[in-house]
Amino acid sequence: MTIKTISTTIFNDQKPGTSGLRKKTRTFMGPHYLENYVSATFTAIGGGAGKCFVLGGDGRFFNRPAIQTILKMAAAQGAARIIVGQGGLLSTPAASHLIRLNGADGGFILSASHNPGGIDADFGLKFNAANGGPASEALTARIHDATLAIKSYDIAEVDDINLDTVGQTRIGTMVIDVVDPVADYSDLMASLFDFDAIRALFAGGFTMRFDAMHAVTGPYAHAILEDTLGAAKGTVVNGVPSEDFGKGHPDPNPIWAKELMDLMMSEAAPDMGAASDGDGDRNMIVGKGTYITPSDSLAMLAANAHLVPAYKNGIAGIARSMPTSAAADRVAEALGIPCFETPTGWKFFGTLLDAGRVTICGEESAGTGSHHVREKDGLWAVLLWLNILAARGKSVAEIQADHWQRFGRNYYARHDYEAVESARADNMMAHLRAQLDSLPGQRFAGLNVTRADDFAYTDPVDGATSAAQGIRLFFEGGARAVFRLSGTGTEGATVRLYLEQFVKQSDYAAPVEQVLEAVRAAALEISDLPNLTGRSRPDVET
Ligand code: G1P
Ligand code: ZN
Repeated sequence: MTIKTISTTIFNDQKPGTSGLRKKTRTFMGPHYLENYVSATFTAIGGGAGKCFVLGGDGRFFNRPAIQTILKMAAAQGAARIIVGQGGLLSTPAASHLIRLNGADGGFILSASHNPGGIDADFGLKFNAANGGPASEALTARIHDATLAIKSYDIAEVDDINLDTVGQTRIGTMVIDVVDPVADYSDLMASLFDFDAIRALFAGGFTMRFDAMHAVTGPYAHAILEDTLGAAKGTVVNGVPSEDFGKGHPDPNPIWAKELMDLMMSEAAPDMGAASDGDGDRNMIVGKGTYITPSDSLAMLAANAHLVPAYKNGIAGIARSMPTSAAADRVAEALGIPCFETPTGWKFFGTLLDAGRVTICGEESAGTGSHHVREKDGLWAVLLWLNILAARGKSVAEIQADHWQRFGRNYYARHDYEAVESARADNMMAHLRAQLDSLPGQRFAGLNVTRADDFAYTDPVDGATSAAQGIRLFFEGGARAVFRLSGTGTEGATVRLYLEQFVKQSDYAAPVEQVLEAVRAAALEISDLPNLTGRSRPDVET
């Protein structure tokens, strides 16, 4: 094996965001772009010599060539072993599990998650650490520093590896194990849930549609839901991963999974609808005629988890990202367990999970997960819902209604203003920051501001601090608005406005928009968003 050292120049835009580095696919395909970032990652972890890594992606355009490049660079580093998913496929939670199962030193996951795929769409690369979770803030900072210092990288000059056949091959002394991407993950799920109870549910006539959105969960869902649990053939739709996700937007929310939503709101609805995203870590849950918001799903899963084998002794704590509604906080209070509020992004849950301080975590952006891996896990959430439905013998809508009766309802929506000119978005955030001290006591759209701050977080386990994580505006009467800029977009800035109103009464039938109208109006007035960004309405409301 010949190792070549290639001279390169620095790219100034390789700062990882909320979840790794995401760029336009053509940017990643450009000379040295991927290689620089991979090399910087090796530098940041002290080199790859003698180490074992997991490698795979969501199957989007450029997945395979990128895997070949990473294999050759790992060989040049002197890595001992790479575990790669057959066909280059691994869902994010399956990759996290393989890292943990094999005691690997980390993993490279190729994905831009829910962003569209294709040569003119998005690509991404994230590095996960030995605990199976996303690189910490400290590690991502080291990777970024290394991208700004790179002069050359090493790569083995060898032919491409066959990724399509399960088995072992080598580059030099580096062992490459091409593994079935589904098998170990499927075993893990079987160890957590009461598969017999779920099997009985399906055998009893329970119907479901799972929309894999042409993304990576297709093979997982076919194997687990249909082949193992006995859901009818055809339960899984759009189940073959495609390089451009069928030209769709693989984000499981009511906007992008509209076909599923329409079915679930129709007479022909099955008992449950679910969907997952590009890399399989997000989930959407819909009942007959009713949508479960991700924030509510987290709360409902936490409240019912004890009915499921893996959590039968109770959960240690719950963590939610700051913009996620406070529905989970009420459950934690009732269970007498702690609830942690972290910045946006799964990387902040890792220390809490590792320390055993929390068992279940979630984000409003359709992510839920537990201590079984160190990523959010779409199919896990679906299986947890199924197990709870089987154990309680109730419908999705009944579980939702019971929950609201017991805990009250956190009405919730997120409004995204996409591809806003970055300078204008920054200006709006600065305008908000400048008012923080003077807002309490003022009244907007009939709501009194009680508190306003820029969310800052100190990790209770390792003491790491993260400042400026989003502007929070609290109002009298249980309303909250949050503003933050997305860290995963690839074009301009995306302004996210999160709206919440807690209501405790006997009837929860009011339309969400109506309940949130006052807090929306107040947030827009305080931020001056329409004027400062030039946007009169959001691009996406979920
Ligand atoms: C978004 C979500 C966030 C999630 C991340 C990765 O990040 O808001 O909750 O962890 O994608 O899936 P954002 O674009 O808001 O920075
Ligand atoms: Zn994802």
